[in-house]
Amino acid sequence: VGHIDDVQELRKARPTTVPPRYVRDISERPTTTTTTSSMHIPTIDLSKFSGENINSYQFNRELSKLAASCKEWGFFQVINHGIEREILESIEKVATEFFMLPLEEKQKFPMAPGTVQGYGHAFVFSEDQKLDWCNMLALAVEPFFMRNHKLWPTKPTKFSEILEIYSVNIRRLCQKLLRFIAMSLGSNKDVFNEKFGNAVQAVRMNYYPPCSRPDLVLGLSPHSDGSGLTVLQQAMGSSVGLQVLKDDKWVPIQPNRNALVINIGDTLEVLTNGKYKSVEHRAVTHKEKDRLSIVTFYAPSYEVEVGPLPEFIGGNRPCMYKKYNHGDYSRHYITNKLQGKKTLDFAK
Ligand code: SIN
Ligand code: FE2
Repeated sequence: VGHIDDVQELRKARPTTVPPRYVRDISERPTTTTTTSSMHIPTIDLSKFSGENINSYQFNRELSKLAASCKEWGFFQVINHGIEREILESIEKVATEFFMLPLEEKQKFPMAPGTVQGYGHAFVFSEDQKLDWCNMLALAVEPFFMRNHKLWPTKPTKFSEILEIYSVNIRRLCQKLLRFIAMSLGSNKDVFNEKFGNAVQAVRMNYYPPCSRPDLVLGLSPHSDGSGLTVLQQAMGSSVGLQVLKDDKWVPIQPNRNALVINIGDTLEVLTNGKYKSVEHRAVTHKEKDRLSIVTFYAPSYEVEVGPLPEFIGGNRPCMYKKYNHGDYSRHYITNKLQGKKTLDFAK
């Protein structure tokens, strides 16, 4: 990554300039695609699922709401998720401190082409591809053997320790959510956790500096996630940037300190034979404000064979996807540019 492809450096050196590689074709620009503020992603209150509520009216009502969210939105936010505020704040703090380091420091942890670990631009494969107005730090966290320790920042000094604590908490949340998602489908509550095995967990921190022409660029290209489930934290004080596609309109998701944003990834779409949807989303930028998001991808172990589970096939729903190896899917995903739901063609 040279100075010119690092958006923070670009912003510092030439605050009013947007190089052509960042300028989107008209059809992709935030101003030529429809955005609506009249809809909001659903909110799921996880306290309704606590032990003493089991099978109560409240419990079942929240479960139906969860089912509807996964079918109609592929996105929802959770409140009362049980993760302490201090943990969420501390990860934002170390991530911000890392992104504010001089470029030379960050480049000690470079992302190699075709991989998604370290600091740099993921999903860029050709000179004529448009670039996202975003800096990224991506790291594999679990299983332990997937960690590339050389790419874990040593500044700020607490980075690794805090990422570790954060990841343990997010992992527990993912397992809990997968149980409720299974129940919302009327399935055995452990069906997904068992299928995932020793699940892969990766984190990606996205920093979007302000951009003088937010109407011309994208912070992150439209895509669906390759994960099973994604947990997305929008840092406090960030601009509104995340947008999810709903009925052909882009719906912004406001940062909310009490909530984490959850979305269904391609893998759950395939496992549920399309009952639950992996939905396209993107990020836009802001003229004056910056934005930080911390995203965890939770997915099956690489040796797992993924395909529609038998319980979701039949009746008026034929098998919609072929069976594949999840490691192969992950490699396919990270070696292709972000382009809507195109990567899921792999399973067709
Ligand atoms: C993502 O989809 O990976 C991140 C989008 C965001 O920054 O909110
Ligand atoms: Fe995403």
